[in-house]
Amino acid sequence: MDQPRRCRGGLRRPALSTTTGTRRRQPQTVGPLVNRLEAILTARGVDPDAMTAAPPDEPVTALEMADARIPARYRGALADHPQITAWAEQIARAGRPGPAGAPGISEGGSLLIAGPTGTGKTHQAYGAIRALLARGVRLRWEATTSADLHARLRPRTGQDTERELRTLARCPLLLLDDLGAAKTSEWTEELTYRLVNHRYEHLLPTLITTNLPTDELRTTLGDRVASRLAEMTERVILTGPDRRRHTRT
Ligand SMILES: Nc1ncnc2c1ncn2[C@@H]1O[C@H](COP(=O)(O)OP(=O)(O)OP(=O)(O)O)[C@@H](O)[C@H]1O
Ligand SMILES: [Mg+2]
Repeated sequence: MDQPRRCRGGLRRPALSTTTGTRRRQPQTVGPLVNRLEAILTARGVDPDAMTAAPPDEPVTALEMADARIPARYRGALADHPQITAWAEQIARAGRPGPAGAPGISEGGSLLIAGPTGTGKTHQAYGAIRALLARGVRLRWEATTSADLHARLRPRTGQDTERELRTLARCPLLLLDDLGAAKTSEWTEELTYRLVNHRYEHLLPTLITTNLPTDELRTTLGDRVASRLAEMTERVILTGPDRRRHTRT
């Protein structure tokens, strides 16, 4: 896995400017057409300076930026499970200050959030990401379901799928949703192994959700993946009814 590449929320975004995780929107630079526009405005008796004044600075929080990438259903998710809030607390405290002063996450524990359908696993996982961002943690993260992962990384012409795998494997925080829910084959087993193994070896915090009970993890994901998950994750078991059948939005 050579040629490092930053995942979304990394280099492509400006660094956060304060420890509270905020940055300022920069005024947009207008191209050469501005001179022509100014001439037209002047000819019509309009002061171009009044039109081109920079918009007032508008603070954008890291949480607001992240919410734009979080699926709408989980955009307001709050992690209220004690093990998950404790994990977020521990990861936030372990963060080292980055170049802009805000703490960043590096090595840390992972969670395996397990439970039947609709018990809130994905909700808790996005809630954990939001909890870190709300605390001002400088966070580069990626999220994918295992079914999307397989689709995304299936070899196809013109796509550097190895590069995509590296992006996910190296991202400081990864949410791997619905692990074991997609159809498996030797190829998906190998892919999951490479992803999990990289994160296992480098102690990279990973949030994993699954519907599979513990004894089925091994048969579905293979012994190598199940063994690494057993060591690298703390298990969080969610119980209760299917919330989808009780609430409707
Ligand atoms: N703590 C919570 N407070 C409010 N709504 C919640 C909470 N947990 C889950 N929900 C809502 O319940 C529904 C199911 O939650 P979620 O999608 O997280 O379940 P899941 O366990 O991931 O299900 P699946 O196994 O099918 O992926 C969603 O509409 C979600 O927004
Ligand atoms: Mg889910």
